[in-house]
Amino acid sequence: MSTQFHELSVADITRETPDSVCVAFDVPEALREAFRYKPGQHLTLRTTIGGEDVRRSYSICSGLSEGRLRVGIKKVPGGVFSAFANDNLAAGDVIQVMAPQGRFAVDVSENAANNYLMIAAGSGITPVLSIIRSTLEGEPMSEVTLVYGNRETASIMFREELEDLKDRFLDRFRTVHILSRETQDVPLFNGRIDAARLEKLASAGLIQPGEADGIYICGPGELIDEAADAVAALGADRGRIHFERFTADGTPHKASKAALEAAQKGATVEVILDGVSKNFAFDDPSKKVVDAAAAKGIDLPFSCKGGMCATCRCKVVEGSAEMDANFSLEPWETEAGYILACQARPTSEKLVLDFDAV
Ligand SMILES: Cc1cc2nc3c(=O)[nH]c(=O)nc-3n(C[C@H](O)[C@H](O)[C@H](O)COP(=O)(O)OP(=O)(O)OC[C@H]3O[C@@H](n4cnc5c(N)ncnc54)[C@H](O)[C@@H]3O)c2cc1C
Ligand code: FES
Repeated sequence: MSTQFHELSVADITRETPDSVCVAFDVPEALREAFRYKPGQHLTLRTTIGGEDVRRSYSICSGLSEGRLRVGIKKVPGGVFSAFANDNLAAGDVIQVMAPQGRFAVDVSENAANNYLMIAAGSGITPVLSIIRSTLEGEPMSEVTLVYGNRETASIMFREELEDLKDRFLDRFRTVHILSRETQDVPLFNGRIDAARLEKLASAGLIQPGEADGIYICGPGELIDEAADAVAALGADRGRIHFERFTADGTPHKASKAALEAAQKGATVEVILDGVSKNFAFDDPSKKVVDAAAAKGIDLPFSCKGGMCATCRCKVVEGSAEMDANFSLEPWETEAGYILACQARPTSEKLVLDFDAV
């Protein structure tokens, strides 16, 4: 898994809704292999804004059949990168882009006959759109149902693309638009996506969570938690429910007693990245490994710094560490010793982290 950045130029930018844009990148032949992706994965974009090095994760929204790499970026109030992308980024600009990452993804197989349920809200449609297009085009026997929540019709990202897909795959693609600030003819479709609405959609036969081979949920944290519990209660196998969070819960965490003691005793952290090993003293427990390393001049891979993207994933090969939050590693990974360096502090005097472990 390469966490190197490559320079890509913006091929074009199209306005999706009044507060979102779709950014397409040209991928030169020499970088095609590096940017090969699975539908659902994301890119880390990096640039300098106001003199600051800024990097953020954006899910790929293009389908595998497209030659271009596209991402959809929704402007958030006060947001640094999303405002830059919506207001200043232009065709021809060059952005640093990390190769695709992430496990919220599907393997498309021509012989598969899958039944997918997608649940998305707002900009959460981006990875889901890539999965929908890629599976409908690449798996002729698979079916997809999308439940998509927005405020009103005008704020629906990729509305036309979804309509086109519906026209092309009439018998295999169903969409249910839920709108919170616009009244539709069918009362069931008015409001928010929550447990009660998912239950009613199931009772009406519009979704069948128990029959789904894969359920992919993307949107705000509360929607993910509530929808995942609701579809599980409706018979979905927990192992088939996948989710991608775009935002952290924002709860501040303090270092535990063990982490404070380790820092006081002069803990050292050794990091192994691209086969090279570096050491630094972990003397400030208010920081976590990625920031503590940066303060000592060591650049480790990261993107969201919120425990969501797993770009900073590494394996503890010696010592122990605690994490403040984990929204991306699966139970088998934490059991196998993987941690998120952006969320970790050492709880032992020596901590060795391998960023090359796959
Ligand atoms: C794996 C992953 C994939 C992502 N994919 C996409 C994508 O495809 N499209 C997309 O638009 N975004 C996506 N995001 C979110 C994106 O990375 C940024 O967090 C978002 O664009 C805000 O960045 P910013 O610099 O504009 O805001 P910041 O300057 O970082 O934050 C400004 C304020 O906005 C709040 N905020 C941050 N993100 C959001 C949000 N999504 N909604 C509401 N408030 C927010 C922050 O808490 C803060 O108060 C993804 C995030 C992750 C982790
Ligand atoms: S940088 Fe995203 S999880 Fe650590």
